[in-house]
Amino acid sequence: MAANKKLLMLPGDGIGPEVLRQVRRVIEWMDRRRTVTFDVEEGLVGGAALDAHGVAVTDETIAKALAVDAVLFGAVGGPKWEGKGFDKRPEAGLLRLRKDLGLFANLRPATVFAPLADASSLKPELVRGLDIMIVRELTGGVYFGEPRGITDIGNGERRGVNTQVYTTSEIRRVAAVAFELARKRKNRLCSVEKHNVMESGLLWKEEVTALHKESFADVELSHMLADTCAMQLVRNPGQFDVIVTDNLFGDILSDEAAMLTGSLGMLPSASLGAVDASGRRKALYEPIHGSAPDIAGRDLANPIAMLLSFAMCLRYSFDMQEDAALVEKAVEAVLAGGMRTADIMQPGMAKVSTSVMGDSILRALDKLAA
Ligand code: IPM
Ligand code: MG
Repeated sequence: MAANKKLLMLPGDGIGPEVLRQVRRVIEWMDRRRTVTFDVEEGLVGGAALDAHGVAVTDETIAKALAVDAVLFGAVGGPKWEGKGFDKRPEAGLLRLRKDLGLFANLRPATVFAPLADASSLKPELVRGLDIMIVRELTGGVYFGEPRGITDIGNGERRGVNTQVYTTSEIRRVAAVAFELARKRKNRLCSVEKHNVMESGLLWKEEVTALHKESFADVELSHMLADTCAMQLVRNPGQFDVIVTDNLFGDILSDEAAMLTGSLGMLPSASLGAVDASGRRKALYEPIHGSAPDIAGRDLANPIAMLLSFAMCLRYSFDMQEDAALVEKAVEAVLAGGMRTADIMQPGMAKVSTSVMGDSILRALDKLAA
């Protein structure tokens, strides 16, 4: 039997622990079927790590994250830790993980689940069957650019600075991931920047164009300004297949795309590093939604985004396509059966808790695997 697969779970804050608990149950279910075994370690991140260690992630946790095959991340943040300096915020833990693991490619699918097409704020005919993949650059741009900071410039004035910066290789490696994904989908890539006002955007466009010509001429490439893309996403989202964009635009556009689906509590994401000599890559999987402190600890949260993030982990880190599809099918079966957590509740459906949603998904897995 192949070596156990090593996972690090970082539940974090708010609803993070309760949604990751449902993933644990699916992992135990898989272990029982003996098709695959996982070694699961757990660690602290975000506010939980700040409370215990005074930092949003410790060096030991980073070392563990570097050693495992994949990291499963819940969510970080909450009112308790607001108003602190940037390095004392829960988010600093997530940003350090992304940077130290070199997770430059963030895959954020925006998919509409058929039973939820009516939950979108757009007309159902605009979103039915929607399946967009946003590839967001995750370790560069304004999130990490130097110089940055707030300085006193006298006379009661202060100055806040951040730097938007990209290099050729940073642009090309994320664009390559996006081109390759497009090839496995509808073969269309839209590259998004603001070359009309930003040098970094102009470079982005030129490098993507050059890479396309050199290595991906078979993929249909288009370019769009970020503001136009924001507009087109609500006007006619069906025109998009894969979108590749920088860290900040990707942050914003992926929230917009996620909301179109009417199912923010449903959407997973994968953050991937470069493929190494042994063919493996560092990876972190997390739901798109945040820590939802208002409902934390009340068994109300939707665990589906976290479960689907685990499915992405099976797909991208372990090449377990069948098992990934099994988890996804179980989710769909439960939704088709009318179960809804509060965030996706619709008239006539059955409102269930986090744990009952977990129970139902396990039962659906039993049925599908029988
Ligand atoms: C996201 C989040 C993070 C980001 C925050 C929590 C730092 O909004 O993953 O989209 O801005 O990248
Ligand atoms: Mg965001």
